[in-house]
Amino acid sequence: MTKRKILVTSALPYANGAIHLGHMLEQIQTDIWVRFQKMRGHECYYVCADDTHGAPIMLAAEKRGISPEQLVDEVRTLHVADSQGFLIGHDNYYSTNSPENKELASQVYKALRADDKIAVRTIEQLYDPEKQMFLPDRFVKGECPKCSAKDQYGDNCEVCGATYNPTELKNPYSAVSGAKPVLKTSEHYFFRLGECADFLKQWTSGSSARADGAIQPHLQPESLNKMNEWIEGGLQDWDISRDAPYFGFEIPDAPGKYFYVWLDAPIGYMASFKNLCDRTGLNFDEWFGKDSHTEMYHFIGKDILYFHALFWPAMLNYSGLRAPTGVFAHGFLTVDGQKMSKSRGTFIQAKSYLDCGLNPEWMRYYIAAKLNGRIEDIDLNLNDFVARVNSDLVGKFVNIASRSAGFIAKRFDGQLAGSVSDMEILARLQAAADELAAAFEAREYAKALRDIMALADVVNAYVDANKPWELAKLEGRDARLQEVCTVLINAFRLLTIYLKPVLPKLAEGVESFLDVAPLCWGDAQALLLGKKINAYQHLMQRVDPASIDKLIEANKENMQATQDAPAAAHEPLAETIKIDDFAKVDLRVGKVLECNFVEGSDKLLQFTVDLGFEKRNIFSGIRKAYQEPEKLVGRHVIVVANLAERKMRFGVSQGMIVCASGTDDGEGLYLLDVDAGVKAGMRIG
Ligand code: MSP
Ligand code: ZN
Repeated sequence: MTKRKILVTSALPYANGAIHLGHMLEQIQTDIWVRFQKMRGHECYYVCADDTHGAPIMLAAEKRGISPEQLVDEVRTLHVADSQGFLIGHDNYYSTNSPENKELASQVYKALRADDKIAVRTIEQLYDPEKQMFLPDRFVKGECPKCSAKDQYGDNCEVCGATYNPTELKNPYSAVSGAKPVLKTSEHYFFRLGECADFLKQWTSGSSARADGAIQPHLQPESLNKMNEWIEGGLQDWDISRDAPYFGFEIPDAPGKYFYVWLDAPIGYMASFKNLCDRTGLNFDEWFGKDSHTEMYHFIGKDILYFHALFWPAMLNYSGLRAPTGVFAHGFLTVDGQKMSKSRGTFIQAKSYLDCGLNPEWMRYYIAAKLNGRIEDIDLNLNDFVARVNSDLVGKFVNIASRSAGFIAKRFDGQLAGSVSDMEILARLQAAADELAAAFEAREYAKALRDIMALADVVNAYVDANKPWELAKLEGRDARLQEVCTVLINAFRLLTIYLKPVLPKLAEGVESFLDVAPLCWGDAQALLLGKKINAYQHLMQRVDPASIDKLIEANKENMQATQDAPAAAHEPLAETIKIDDFAKVDLRVGKVLECNFVEGSDKLLQFTVDLGFEKRNIFSGIRKAYQEPEKLVGRHVIVVANLAERKMRFGVSQGMIVCASGTDDGEGLYLLDVDAGVKAGMRIG
């Protein structure tokens, strides 16, 4: 078999958030493929990194009072721990904020510039005059130009779904400072994507020959259709610069201008690999040179196809580097049929899954059982998760070992039979190797696992037909018992080989149980006979459904700590009024002349307020918050001066003193203040 050289990536997670099960789906899909390739004996490397640049990360760090470098270091440690927790075998997990990336980004940019693929143009953009920065679309908010919904982002409306430019928002404000943004011009650098249309038409519909002669289309059919639409629609030049302040790399010869995060992010794949090469002595140029014979694959979500199937191949091609061999897009993870939701506890963080004591291989198995080579959303149905893991993984597969290993240990001192006569079943399992390999290669994991479980069914039927527990009770049937159990241990070993890309840790357990070297794909062609094996330790527990409830609870809780929670808890705004409606309320500054407790009421205070032109008697229900009324004498308050008089048990109230209050009684009441110099009677408005 020809040995292939394969470089594999998954998308670089942003360094300002936790890894959730959606991210994990991608890493699991990638990791299974990589482990499969390694088991086949190919030279395969899996690199990833954190995507660290951009305004959101800069602002998140600022909010926490730390440097962006500190933030991205902190987050990287968490991300690495999550990946390891799910048994993701990255060969390198790096950062886009690295010297290698800076160097490579500059190199790519200079090559594009030398090829006349960079243009400089003046553009107009919204600018926050208070914070003194240009505002990314997501940092401008205002009313939707279509439906007038409030507090919508600058790129699209979450209420009516309209998309628009931030300049179209009504009453825009900066999400950073609250200031009203102004339009300001600035010079921006553009990648002339419009000039790459011919190359991109060719590349997107094209394919590459692998070292083993197989033909690999660059894109999946669905991706190709999408890209065709985009190319036909006309490719716009791509704005690759951002103005200071920005957390990123400064553009060579352009002080104060930075590479847009999406320019250096995919270059981060190269940088992570470069770092691996420098540490291990691999030849970087052999992998990235224009006529490289190595393969390069990117596993990504469907939302970032545009960047990977258009910008990235064009950037590589026009800077004299190799283009990808394939871009493999997957769909999105939904939980119980819906988009992951923080309030329902289904926005499940990778860490919380592990912290709840759930086995990462259960999730790897479940996700693999649903993945195929197409771009379809994948649903995590939590009841189905428990059922499938318990009935298939444990019930059908792991039980094969637990039903046979005990007899080998107790009755035969761990010794397997030297030969077996029931070869048919083992031959059938061995014969499946090629078809299963083809399914893994094509990322048809669901098919692979279906076929493997069908083989497990055959093995379980063999158990039921031969009943080792009955043979064990019969006189003179020892040789047959040893033979049947040897067949079962071998069947279990073969199934383990096929499942190893999905269940690497369990496979390790099997390797030490069988006392064999790490299993690879080719080992399926041999059997394990006449060998002494170790005592069986239980390899995998069943899922306790209660742990799933715990997981949902944990994710509801951690939602309360997230920043968007307080916004969700605010009291809804009253219906919109016109300025004329507001003018109907005559608010005046009043000076407190007298303030006393009211006999017979534990709620009220009685005020005498000077409005400048007249004195008013006002009862106000703020005694709980102001226990020393004499201290209020002399201060200014705000009075609703044209409120109809109200007769109360204690007298007539001639107006109302306004104060701030929360939705909850415990939050208290607060009188409003007016700045010094104000005079009683002044109107407010
Ligand atoms: N930083 C960019 C990628 C740069 S690659 C040069 C980014 N980061 S991300 O953190 O938002 O997403 C990382 C990957 O996770 C993407 O491939 C994205 O599609 C994937 N997913 C994010 N949410 C997901 C689901 N709910 N389901 C499946 N994949 C999801 O985009
Ligand atoms: Zn709208």
